[in-house]
Amino acid sequence: MSEAAPLPARFADLKQEIAASYPDFKQRATQAWGDIITQLRNVNAEIANAGSEYIPQVNFEDLDKLSREEIERIKRRGSVVIKDVVPDAEAIQWKDALEDFIKSNPDVEGVPLDNKQFFQLYWTKSQVAARSHPNVLAASVWLNNLYHTKEGQTIDGVDLSTPLTYADRFRIRRPGVQWNVHPPHIDGGSIERWEDPIFRLCFSNVLSGNWRQHDPYELEGRLNAQSSRYGRPNQSTVFRTFQGWLAMSETAPTQGTLRVYPAVFLSNAYIILRPFFRPTVSVHSPDVLDAKNWEFDLSSSEFPGIYPRDGGFAGPHPTPTLHPHLELEKTMTSVPKVNPGDAVFWHCDVVHSVEQEHTGSGDSAVMYIPAVPLTPQNQSYVERQKESFLNSERPPDFPKGPAEDQFIGVAGADDILAPLGRRAMGFPMTVA
Ligand SMILES: [Fe+2]
Repeated sequence: MSEAAPLPARFADLKQEIAASYPDFKQRATQAWGDIITQLRNVNAEIANAGSEYIPQVNFEDLDKLSREEIERIKRRGSVVIKDVVPDAEAIQWKDALEDFIKSNPDVEGVPLDNKQFFQLYWTKSQVAARSHPNVLAASVWLNNLYHTKEGQTIDGVDLSTPLTYADRFRIRRPGVQWNVHPPHIDGGSIERWEDPIFRLCFSNVLSGNWRQHDPYELEGRLNAQSSRYGRPNQSTVFRTFQGWLAMSETAPTQGTLRVYPAVFLSNAYIILRPFFRPTVSVHSPDVLDAKNWEFDLSSSEFPGIYPRDGGFAGPHPTPTLHPHLELEKTMTSVPKVNPGDAVFWHCDVVHSVEQEHTGSGDSAVMYIPAVPLTPQNQSYVERQKESFLNSERPPDFPKGPAEDQFIGVAGADDILAPLGRRAMGFPMTVA
């Protein structure tokens, strides 16, 4: 279905239902909307001035020594480069092994078809080793622990210090080839952010008008959120605290790297309230940036940036016309240069994209490895994912396709690097 397809009429009811569930919704949301727009103007200017430097960078070995301010900055901006998570040589060796794998198995599925760079592969030895590397798991634990419960209480079955593995793919992007496939978007839940009452709890401070109290790191709502109500392929069903990738090559801005909107607290507040307002002037007029040219409106079934797709919904896909106050043309910020073994992580609500151009002279190669904590829902996914692994099949959240056991050099359980890596994959820590 095209991205222009309208949303079903029932989503107007959903909007009204949400509005009715918060006291003084119209008045409080309108006040918040105006305040958020003012705040965005200031922060957007700061982001545009600073460029890539706005995205915090830390050394893996310093993670436990960061000051409160440094941690707060990482949380507010929502993205971080962690340098030297694994030694350069190890990351380079993983890339070499992936290149060998592709050469030995020319039939692997990948895009673009005439020059494959993004692969439907999950269980190569490099991927299994990287995901189970003790430092990769330690970085995950550190990121998971940026989250908290409201009162600091413990929750049965939840341990932020026990990392789990979420198997995803890798890319080896060659210089020069244009990618248009990843414009700004948010992963891990589309219309579900509003439609699922549990997921919606993550944003209750925004919807109640107390948007300054919104905390993207509060666990309530995240743990049992139904992020994939419609079972759409490629829609994650697990709670990833941060999405991430591990670099296997150098990659600098303009070389096909990741871009983020680096103010997750604000982009959440804006995107969640956006469906309740409509512009009264042309979206192409500069006046559209003025809050007084927007009005409260519950009549439409549209949730701007959400589109029907594959039996479910895709997005949010913010665009300059649908979400003008994000000023995406000047605020989508490329992450600073990384070296092999560095990792980039971005909070699960962060608006992100991939640079279209790759002007460098070498490959830009990364393995997608998010941070995933132990929760009952995540553990149940890992159990199913383990069965896929043992059968060399694609993991449950991903598009169906041929198993990998037909390929030469696929990993087995012995290729998992460490006891904690075994646990993260749902195996006993020690080999029986
Ligand atoms: Fe994404």
